[in-house]
Amino acid sequence: MATELKTREQWGTRIGLVLAMAGNAVGLGNFLRFPVQAAENGGGTFMIPYFISLVLLGIPLMWLEWGMGRYGGRFGHGTLPGMFQVVWRHPAAKYLGVVGLAGPLIIFVYYTYVVGWMLGFSFLSLTGDYFGLTSFEEMGAYLRSFQDIYDSSAHGGWVAVVFFLLTLALVVYTVARGISGGIEKMALIGMPVLFLFALVLMVRVLTLPATELGSPVQGLNFIWQPEWRKLWEAEVWLAAAGQIFFTLSLGLGTIQTYASYLSERDDITLTGLATASTNEFVEVVLGGTIAIPAAVTFFGIVGMQMVTGAFDLGIVAMAVVFQSLPGPELVGRLAGFMWYFLLFIAGITSSVALASPTIAFLQEEFGFPRRRVARLLGLVAIGLAAFHVLFYRYGFLDEWDYWAGTFGLVLVATLEVVVVRLGMGMERFWEEMHRGAELRVPRFFFFVLKWVTPLFLSILLGWWTVTEAWPNLRMDGVAPQQVAVRWLSRLVMLAVIALAVALVHRAWRRHPERYAEAQA
Ligand code: PHE
Repeated sequence: MATELKTREQWGTRIGLVLAMAGNAVGLGNFLRFPVQAAENGGGTFMIPYFISLVLLGIPLMWLEWGMGRYGGRFGHGTLPGMFQVVWRHPAAKYLGVVGLAGPLIIFVYYTYVVGWMLGFSFLSLTGDYFGLTSFEEMGAYLRSFQDIYDSSAHGGWVAVVFFLLTLALVVYTVARGISGGIEKMALIGMPVLFLFALVLMVRVLTLPATELGSPVQGLNFIWQPEWRKLWEAEVWLAAAGQIFFTLSLGLGTIQTYASYLSERDDITLTGLATASTNEFVEVVLGGTIAIPAAVTFFGIVGMQMVTGAFDLGIVAMAVVFQSLPGPELVGRLAGFMWYFLLFIAGITSSVALASPTIAFLQEEFGFPRRRVARLLGLVAIGLAAFHVLFYRYGFLDEWDYWAGTFGLVLVATLEVVVVRLGMGMERFWEEMHRGAELRVPRFFFFVLKWVTPLFLSILLGWWTVTEAWPNLRMDGVAPQQVAVRWLSRLVMLAVIALAVALVHRAWRRHPERYAEAQA
């Protein structure tokens, strides 16, 4: 009764689905965030909490999100407000789901802005624009001038805006063409190119001759050498769990939206596991073997440690690496192009995933045609991205990345588990998840999902709130000239959330029957 079953769009092929889901998960996180997190948090030791988090949080939550997504899709809901509501009939459920609508939109805006930088740098590598800037200082200044609209020392900040608009246009074009005609097609073309470029770069890095400063093997040792005392530091565990969330795109709503386009007969256990494994291969094997070993070869461990953030490693240090490669300059230019373009593909396939909850919601709840919604999203993104362009140097983007992209993920994942347990119970969910299953998941994971994951999540959330979120909220350690903009940044996020609440309220008033409890 609660349904007004229209036929939903569907994925075209199994391989297309796997590549699209892998495209969702594989992103900047795999190539930029992972190596830096690993290196900063004890190297090989990091991998212990990392794999424990993968098994106790990542994989179980992946199944949970696929299961919830497919279930919601059956009732015509592609986003968390509707999904939470059909799973748990409490009137508050749909409002809890607002996080799964506002969160992806918030991340979409700044993430796509950064993906645009990658397109920019792939172009600037081909033309050899930064060739000649061979020190970290010069290259760092070049990057800052690219990022900061007020700094025109290397080029006007508007260059980044142009590449952002190009990237956004491609995203809008793709989502306007729909699930199988747009997103799936992008993944079918993009992901093989990404794999190819990553393999070529990995082989090139691993076969680099040693320099007097370092070698690729030293780089691998640097990442993988365990530092046992770090295992007892809570931050290392938080960093590892945070990386698992981010890299698998968990706790946001994008996996659920993609899964909502599955049919009831489709397998989710095996396919979900396959996409998570693909992501892990790309992250640990490919992501771990390019940037750090390359940087260590040319700058040595000490030189490499001067590089701190993900952008400094992935953009600044790598740009210097490309200029130091043996052979003619063309080799360096091509390698640079491949690196930034592979980051661009990794990023844009995640951007379309981040766009998809907003698209699905407006389409399903307000009946707007997909193309119109896609264009609207483009305009909203331009409006919101303007803040990032204008206020980048004041930490506007960092605020969004912390609250939505780090803290938010764990919060949403916790809500998801709570909603499933309260609304359906884990037993019923377990059965639901096994409809059409090609892999019977060992009972061990039932126990994990029911007890261990929620416990792990609560500890994480509690610990994080005390040690990080609270100090961050009070802006401890923030430069005084940034405080005002950081507050503005939070207000804009709150405005997006308020808008999402209003839209959910509207949608529910329009079609209360769509938000009734699902019939088993
Ligand atoms: N998983 C993506 C990455 O590794 C980021 C992302 C997070 C994408 C959440 C979608 C949703 O870069």
